[in-house]
Amino acid sequence: MSEVERSDDSRAKFSLRVWRPIVVRALAHRGAVAGLVGGGITVAAIETALPLMVGRIVDEARLGAEATLLPVLALYAALFVVFAIGVWIFIASAGVVATRTADQLRRDAFAKLQTLEPAYFDVRPTGWLVSRLTSDCSKVAGILPWVMLDFAWCSAIMIGVVSAMCITDARLAMWALAAVPPMALTSALFQRFLIRAGREARRVSSAMTASYGEMLLGARTTKTLVREEANLADFQRLSAEMNHWAMRGAILSSIYMPLIASLAAFGAALVLWKGAGDVLAAEGVTLGTLIAFMQFAALFAQPVQELAQRFADILNASSAAERIATLLMTEPKIGDNAAVRTPTDQERRIDTLRFEDVSFWYREGVIVLESFSLEARRGQTIALVGSTGGGKSTIVSLAARFYEPCAGRISLDGTDYRERPLTWFTAQIGIVPQVAHLFAGTVRDNIRYGRLDATDDDVERAAMRVRAHEFIATLEHGYDTEVGEGGERLSTGQRQLVALARAVLRDPQILVMDEATSSIDTATEQLVQAGVDEVLRGRIAFVVAHRLSTIRRADVILVIEKGRIAEQGTHRELLARRGRYFELYTNQFAADRERALLHLKDEAKVETVASLIDDDE
Ligand SMILES: Nc1ncnc2c1ncn2[C@@H]1O[C@H](COP(=O)(O)OP(=O)(O)O)[C@@H](O)[C@H]1O
Ligand SMILES: [Mg+2]
Repeated sequence: MSEVERSDDSRAKFSLRVWRPIVVRALAHRGAVAGLVGGGITVAAIETALPLMVGRIVDEARLGAEATLLPVLALYAALFVVFAIGVWIFIASAGVVATRTADQLRRDAFAKLQTLEPAYFDVRPTGWLVSRLTSDCSKVAGILPWVMLDFAWCSAIMIGVVSAMCITDARLAMWALAAVPPMALTSALFQRFLIRAGREARRVSSAMTASYGEMLLGARTTKTLVREEANLADFQRLSAEMNHWAMRGAILSSIYMPLIASLAAFGAALVLWKGAGDVLAAEGVTLGTLIAFMQFAALFAQPVQELAQRFADILNASSAAERIATLLMTEPKIGDNAAVRTPTDQERRIDTLRFEDVSFWYREGVIVLESFSLEARRGQTIALVGSTGGGKSTIVSLAARFYEPCAGRISLDGTDYRERPLTWFTAQIGIVPQVAHLFAGTVRDNIRYGRLDATDDDVERAAMRVRAHEFIATLEHGYDTEVGEGGERLSTGQRQLVALARAVLRDPQILVMDEATSSIDTATEQLVQAGVDEVLRGRIAFVVAHRLSTIRRADVILVIEKGRIAEQGTHRELLARRGRYFELYTNQFAADRERALLHLKDEAKVETVASLIDDDE
């Protein structure tokens, strides 16, 4: 499991700091927050007033004072209406705060992700990021309004009830409050156990999820290696453990609730015991007061339980909050430095891009490129070939400023590219990746993605230039054909053509193709090749290719081995050298053309291929 995946709920440390960015965003919705707090306080005030009124009604009724009884009853009914409105307001407000906060968090997290350098995504699986944006945001935003509400409501109830009791009868108040400390203590104790059980259950649950995932992903491997029984045993062990903690949690909660209720009843009993004598002895305590106090004593169970529950909620969501806070606070590693200024018209045109003694490493100590130098001029196509892991992708990623050099510099007409605004530079780059990424939408939308303000005409012209128009015209709805999720309704070659049209539409000064044609078959490649040539024209182009036939027309071919240029020259020059390129080319040529060639002796192969090449030219 990666470092990222390990930060699950089970390891959450409690820290209020991580809630800050979430609370700030929730508080921004002032109206809803006011409704929440106001609703909570209103409800608490009425809950405090009702026992007093009941007491009053009882006393008035006993005295037979019907004249004053009626208005009190009317007020009682009116308070119920206000109570209902208060409840409605806080539920509605909580909904608003939860939805808006989740939405804001999601937007901010999304915007942040857009600013982060591609390296950030290297180590974080897409699934992980998606759940940060979806479940984590909803989880924390869903909890927060209820915490705010309960905080307002509980504080108001405690303050209201205690003051009401103290004003009415301070001595009886002491008795009524006697049960509160044991309630709070019991609550704290139980919550500790409950939180532990919940945490363990979540830990086991994520282990189970991982186990499911591995089993599903590797179902074939599992079967062929006859690992079913071992997997099942693992799963059953986890399942039993899960059961244990879930049961424990259930039993604890089943004891907790009645226990708090009993303690509250005990408080009420104390009031009854102490107060009843006074009522009978007519020592200033009326029957109504006694009834009110008994209700007050019972009322305390609620805030204690609610606060404990909210505290547990906060703990449960703490790791989600932490992940969101961390994401929101991540600073992009690649961004504009102090020397950046808007380029002048003259500076906007890029004639040369130069690697000057560039060294680069992904991890300290593991050097990938060392003192690498290279000049690429407008109109040139630089082809990079060489064995896997040699550093070709690294070189083009540096050129595209996905990464920046660790030492040395990359210059645009003599100026370090870090002295140009990143967004401007990014707009000058066109990328045709190995697997063309299409979004669900029409063919037209997907081409337009290269330049959003392009007209329909622009889109079609771009498609014609790369010879994509022909296939698009044969689609059921032409340019308005839906390509499906990830472009699934198009073939690999068709997707690649759409990607090329997109690149041409963007009209970038610098173009990068990293193995863009390696996933398509030879027949399709013929089709795409014309498009590729069109895309490359007039730009600074870097082409990484496995398929050597695609790069024969490059101006310069660099053979990259272990982060260095092993050979450099045109196709003809390099073949004439009979070095590494010749070796790569002949091997592949042989493989591509006829298997039969492989059966020839080496000498014969060289000759045959050489003659084929000459035929080709
Ligand atoms: N994101 C990365 N993090 C760490 N190391 C990497 C990363 N990408 C590539 N490397 C390493 O850098 C070296 C060059 O890789 P790469 O540029 O992808 O080579 P190529 O494209 O020629 O196959 C390899 O040793 C590879 O393992
Ligand atoms: Mg590569």
